[in-house]
Amino acid sequence: MANPFKPTAGAEPPHLIGREDALDLFVEGLEDGAGAPGLLSIISGPRGIGKTALLHRAESIALEHGWAPISDTATPGLLERLKHGVEVHLRELGKREPRWHITAVQAASFAVTREITPASQIDLRERMTELTTILREHGTGLLITVDEIHSVDRSELVQLSATVQHLIRDGLPIAFIGAGIPQAISNLLNDKISTFLRRADPIVLDSVALDAVRDSLRQTFADSNVAISEDQLTMAAQATGGYPFLVQLVGYHVWRLSKVDGVTDQTLSRGIEAARKRLGSTVLDTALADLSDVDRTFLVKMAIDDGPSYMSRIAERMGESIKYVGVYRRRLLDTGIIRTAGHGKVEFTLPYLAEHLRNHAVQLHNPGQGS
Ligand SMILES: Nc1ncnc2c1ncn2[C@@H]1O[C@H](COP(=O)(O)OP(=O)(O)OP(=O)(O)O)[C@@H](O)[C@H]1O
Ligand SMILES: [Mg+2]
Repeated sequence: MANPFKPTAGAEPPHLIGREDALDLFVEGLEDGAGAPGLLSIISGPRGIGKTALLHRAESIALEHGWAPISDTATPGLLERLKHGVEVHLRELGKREPRWHITAVQAASFAVTREITPASQIDLRERMTELTTILREHGTGLLITVDEIHSVDRSELVQLSATVQHLIRDGLPIAFIGAGIPQAISNLLNDKISTFLRRADPIVLDSVALDAVRDSLRQTFADSNVAISEDQLTMAAQATGGYPFLVQLVGYHVWRLSKVDGVTDQTLSRGIEAARKRLGSTVLDTALADLSDVDRTFLVKMAIDDGPSYMSRIAERMGESIKYVGVYRRRLLDTGIIRTAGHGKVEFTLPYLAEHLRNHAVQLHNPGQGS
């Protein structure tokens, strides 16, 4: 039997833990149709928290409701690809009627070589109007999802916003969900161009509850006939810190070592250890690579503490003023990597990041300056 856990960015997990609230609102939106609040959302959260997985789930749900989804990961040429996606849906609908059938379209799979021109932009609006008008007759609509939305070219985003807004004004059934890391999203929202995005419903993803993690692990191990005790489930759940990427990593490695003879205390601890190592080389390094050198130095100085760090101590260790260090505090809060922990204190959001930084501080920054 194949390992049921999926510790890969963007992969669909065996259970999507703890995202019911966000999805309920979306489903209500699909049922209420044009103009419903759940149809315009922005998902944000740190790396590995499950933004892409949630987008994918939203697309499948839309499909089940007869909505036509077009998904894209932001790279230049977004609008031209969306146009292709709209054409594909229109063609399919033309062919298949009266038998009503919708399939998912991945805009990202269209190769695009040219920029969209103003004439072509009007065309996109017309074609989207045409598609959503047909879909409305069937009581459904069009869903556009854009992952890593902060990488969208600004002028393309302005045009996309204008088009979507136009359709909403005309009472046409259009849904839009974007996703990205918090810092980038907040830059985007502060930008004057995105009044449309500011009106979107913010879905801020956080760790999931340990009880829910334990239930999901219990179910997945049972479904694949690998024995695990309640105590072991509790320990495994605790080791994940409720962080979705780590749930998959811990599940994957414990399952892999235990698939023949069931989970033992030894396979459990070895699996957790392997998961932690992988977390460092995958998610944590990626999250750190998003940052500037000073951001990383801040984190390295923070990691000296066990538990929350006083800002005053971080400033001292960096040899800078509180005011200077405060700028970096703000930036890091915006990335979702740290959070406030009471007055004048901050702590890490991502599990094992402090440990990872302590082990790798030398490579990361300031060789030779331990504290
Ligand atoms: N709600 C969830 N329950 C269980 N596992 C999840 C959940 N959400 C995501 N995962 C798993 O966590 C890992 C990371 O998910 P995903 O790639 O969606 O994160 P992300 O927020 O998009 O990260 P990035 O910012 O790096 O793109 C994947 O292995 C995925 O299967
Ligand atoms: Mg992602």
